[in-house]
Amino acid sequence: PHRKVNSICCIGAGYVGGPTCAVIAAANPHINVQIVDVNQSRIDAWNSDVLPIYEPGLAETVAKSRNRNLFFSTNVSQAIEEADLIFVSVNTPTKKSGMGRGFAADLGYVEAATRQIAKIAKSDKIVVEKSTVPCRTAQSIRLILEANSRSGVHFDILSNPEFLAEGTAIQDLMHPDRVLIGSQDTVAGFSACASLAEVYSAWVPRDKIITMNVWSSELSKLAANAMLAQRISSINALSAICEATGADVDEVAHAVGLDSRIGPKFLKSSVGFGGSCFRKDILNLVYLSESLNLPEVAAYWRQVVEMNEYQKFRFARKVLHSLFDTMSNKRIAVFGFAFKKDTGDTRESAAITLVQSFAEEMASVAIYDPKVEERQVWLELTSNDTDIEAKVKERVTICNSALEAAGGADAIVIATEWDEFKDTNLNYADVYRVMNKPAFIFDGRSILNAGVITDIGFKLHTIGKGT
Ligand code: NAD
Ligand code: UGA
Repeated sequence: PHRKVNSICCIGAGYVGGPTCAVIAAANPHINVQIVDVNQSRIDAWNSDVLPIYEPGLAETVAKSRNRNLFFSTNVSQAIEEADLIFVSVNTPTKKSGMGRGFAADLGYVEAATRQIAKIAKSDKIVVEKSTVPCRTAQSIRLILEANSRSGVHFDILSNPEFLAEGTAIQDLMHPDRVLIGSQDTVAGFSACASLAEVYSAWVPRDKIITMNVWSSELSKLAANAMLAQRISSINALSAICEATGADVDEVAHAVGLDSRIGPKFLKSSVGFGGSCFRKDILNLVYLSESLNLPEVAAYWRQVVEMNEYQKFRFARKVLHSLFDTMSNKRIAVFGFAFKKDTGDTRESAAITLVQSFAEEMASVAIYDPKVEERQVWLELTSNDTDIEAKVKERVTICNSALEAAGGADAIVIATEWDEFKDTNLNYADVYRVMNKPAFIFDGRSILNAGVITDIGFKLHTIGKGT
């Protein structure tokens, strides 16, 4: 027999905590869900009409339950006290200093949240590790909870990694390939696992809710991200061969992907993968491998990240070389700044590296993205350093439309695959008219129809296609 969950607290109102618990609340009207965060302005935004993150379908999902059984607040302690089950969904960035810097995960936020749970909890709690963490973190959480809890208070710790992708978060949450729950091999562990499984079973078919031991569950999350990113680096490595030989990477991906053992997804060649997690989680796996004295394993995964850096560099070099090896006094229009379409998130976006490299070549860079806020672009490019900001603002401008960015430009660089940049949605003949000639397009996402674009007069370079 397992305990029924009546009240949930989610610590961390970010890209994962917000959408995940909004979906849980909508599917479980009988459960009281409180999403809490230390960031007051983020919580204010969750309580307003303009949510802090953009995701298709998110606003509608939040509207279904907000202020009924879904609440956003900064009162972390009260939410912990009232909850039967607590998701820890805080950020786990790469460490910036100390041992393992640049590779290992910074678990400071997870530890702070854990200590607060231990301090506040007056009744038994199920603590769910939702953040992506190194294998065996649940053991640290257990030690901290047990060493600091009030007497008689019992904690069960579960691992429940999240597999949603940004831009499709609500779809992914509504129809997951699987929900993964890792628990301890004990009666209490299995019972906690059943309690969480019941929450998901409100909308996820039972056969898609899989259970396993905690360490397998933690490692599965790193493994999934590493293998997804590895597919992209593999196709991007092949894109370089395609460009040199006249093969077409999309045709190669199609032919290869039809093999049912390989499958068609995640074989889209690009200017390089971005996003908050692939790089971070692979480097985390590299660090884990090194800590376990497995240098060959570490080198294998490290190469996935190195290939991605190479892809960005290779693309930037192609742009420079095509523009007769000089960018000074030239204007480059960068279409898209988000790390993929349908999100305003810019973390680790390939566009950042490209803009920086064009600015260093003394180009003037004009950026347009339909969803990314202006202050977010400046934050990524300047890291809030006023000296850097002055320099960057001499070279970079932010525009309100693709056409405006292209005005007077020598080249367009497509960095994000937004639908509005496709030739079926944007009038490239108009774009051509306002540009300097020869007018170049560097399609880093392979979204344009080459015939249409070259007929207008553009010089087109597409990632993974020989010219
Ligand atoms: P995020 O930075 O958007 O959100 C984390 C939030 O936690 C922040 O708002 C921060 O203020 C808050 N926080 C930190 N410490 C806190 C504390 N002690 N008390 C209360 N609030 C606290 O991060 P995210 O993108 O939602 O990612 C969260 C975790 O989920 C990470 O481990 C990430 O690797 C993982 N993940 C992310 C995605 C994704 O698509 N972004 C997908 C799957 C897994
Ligand atoms: C990724 C995973 O897909 C999720 O399953 C996982 O939960 C998440 O990381 C995480 O742990 O944070 P996300 O980074 O949001 O999700 O987005 P993806 O769709 O995976 O795209 C990542 C990057 O790879 C983007 O820059 C995208 O443009 C690029 N990409 C993706 C390609 O270049 N080619 C492809 O074929 C697919």
